Amino acid sequence: IDPDPGRRLLIPSSDPGIEFLVVKPADVAVYVESGAADLGVTGTDVLRESDADVLEPLELGFGFCRLVVANPGTAPWPDLPGGKTARVATKYPRLAWRHFAEAGRPVEIIAVNGSVEVAPLLGLAHWIVDLVDTGNTLRANGLEARETILQVGAVLVANRAIQKLKLEEHLRLMRRLEKVVKE
Ligand code: PRP
Repeated sequence: IDPDPGRRLLIPSSDPGIEFLVVKPADVAVYVESGAADLGVTGTDVLRESDADVLEPLELGFGFCRLVVANPGTAPWPDLPGGKTARVATKYPRLAWRHFAEAGRPVEIIAVNGSVEVAPLLGLAHWIVDLVDTGNTLRANGLEARETILQVGAVLVANRAIQKLKLEEHLRLMRRLEKVVKE
């Protein structure tokens, strides 16, 4: 692969059968589900959020973190006066909604695109649902993780139909990837 592709988003490799496509993590499943790309690398966070119908043939062994519910203070659950509905700020509205719905806790979901940890400080939300790795961002903003919704990691995703059509090719590629992942 060209080490300096500049602003090119479709990058040829030394193997004429393989080109690399650079897209945002949340868009990987869109390209793969539609068949625009055969294979993709993305995180299980954005993958579960998208609910895309793709295969996940390989865990890639990096990008580990957790999707958690967090809030400030010492009480895990806010004591809301007068039956007020708690608000949850998150980049993962579907996963957050499902988590609270399964627990029978009615919430209002507020979708944001980043810097989620600031939401409780400014009264935008009572809770956040966001990724935690080292926990530094939560700590720096006075938040405490209360529940884990999902263990997150990078995975290889494959288009269902293309995987069948190109099974041998995909298996060969996966063997090569597995070697790198296990090293
Ligand atoms: C991610 C995530 C948390 C932070 C967690 O944010 O959303 O904010 O990393 O990492 P930590 O536990 O090691 O502190 P990112 O840097 O991707 O930026 P974003 O807030 O704009 O999404």
